[in-house]
Amino acid sequence: MASPTVKLNSGYDMPLVGFGLWKVNNDTCADQVYHAIKEGYRLFDGACDYGNEVEAGQGIARAIKDGLVQRSDLFIVSKLWNSFHDGPQVEPICRKQLADWGIDYFDLYIVHFPIALKYVDPAIRYPPGWKSASDELEFSPASIQETWTAMESLVDKGLARSIGISNFSAQLVMDLLRYARIRPATLQIEHHPYLTQTRLVDFAQKQGLTVTAYSSFGPLSFLELDVRDAVSTPPLFEHEVVRKVAQRCGRTPAQVLLRWATQRGVAVIPKSNDPQRLRQNLDVTGWDLEEGEVQAIAALDQGLRFNDPIGYGLDIPIF
Ligand SMILES: NC(=O)c1ccc[n+]([C@@H]2O[C@H](COP(=O)([O-])OP(=O)(O)OC[C@H]3O[C@@H](n4cnc5c(N)ncnc54)[C@H](OP(=O)(O)O)[C@@H]3O)[C@@H](O)[C@H]2O)c1
Repeated sequence: MASPTVKLNSGYDMPLVGFGLWKVNNDTCADQVYHAIKEGYRLFDGACDYGNEVEAGQGIARAIKDGLVQRSDLFIVSKLWNSFHDGPQVEPICRKQLADWGIDYFDLYIVHFPIALKYVDPAIRYPPGWKSASDELEFSPASIQETWTAMESLVDKGLARSIGISNFSAQLVMDLLRYARIRPATLQIEHHPYLTQTRLVDFAQKQGLTVTAYSSFGPLSFLELDVRDAVSTPPLFEHEVVRKVAQRCGRTPAQVLLRWATQRGVAVIPKSNDPQRLRQNLDVTGWDLEEGEVQAIAALDQGLRFNDPIGYGLDIPIF
């Protein structure tokens, strides 16, 4: 089974359903990527910060070598980490990430957060995480405009086909669009029924940015990180509204949550370690929720955000 694609404002087609690589263990990552390709996944959502780009690239190389796919069938996404926002650092780190993956261009390269941190030499610590070389939280003076201009030059040089942003508010998107020579192709945000961000999604879509949802299952992904609100929030899979829709559609609650996004043109990037769940997560297009069901799920919104630097004990109040 393959995912349908959506046309980005850069002219490239992006699969509406992909595989997210956050918290995919290094020892299993190559196999997971290989099996996901076998199941039909073509988009892989990686990042410097996930620390598994080498292994993800090994999975891809094996799939290409075995004739499962060609590079041109795949849509490989990676992200610029906060420590590399200084204009002169953007190209070198992008080249390092490409070398880690073993490829010569990214289909999409995203500014991970609108947060510029002090540069950390990869020889000292990689991925650097949130702290500087002296293990402090230190910011860089780089503006988003400086970073974005360097991102645009990655497109000029053929290192990235499309560029995008993540965790940006509508205000930041508005500002960026004033000076962007190349508009962001996508905006990746936390998006699930407890955090629908309807105004931001509508605004981005009207501006021609494709929205990608992360953490589509809400609290589930954050239980293992012991994020306080995630532990105390009722699981979405067990919510009566979601269960009822799942029952009517003859689908799993996970599929309902993913379809709730894709039906509104929002791309999804779930990950699973389990072959059966991997398969069902790809089967989230081509069947529909009723409009009333879409509304009922959207009405679960509580403005509840789980992926917040403040929640990780970092004094960075971006949300
Ligand atoms: N831009 C950003 O700042 C940002 C932040 C967070 C995430 N992301 C991206 O978004 C991707 C997805 O987000 P996420 O990792 O937070 O969450 P997710 O992939 O939406 O959810 C993962 C959790 O759901 C479980 N799961 C997956 N499919 C299931 C199914 N069909 N039924 C039941 N359980 C299922 C997984 O367990 P099993 O593996 O055991 O199935 C895992 O515990 C990430 O991998 C990353 O690429 C981006």
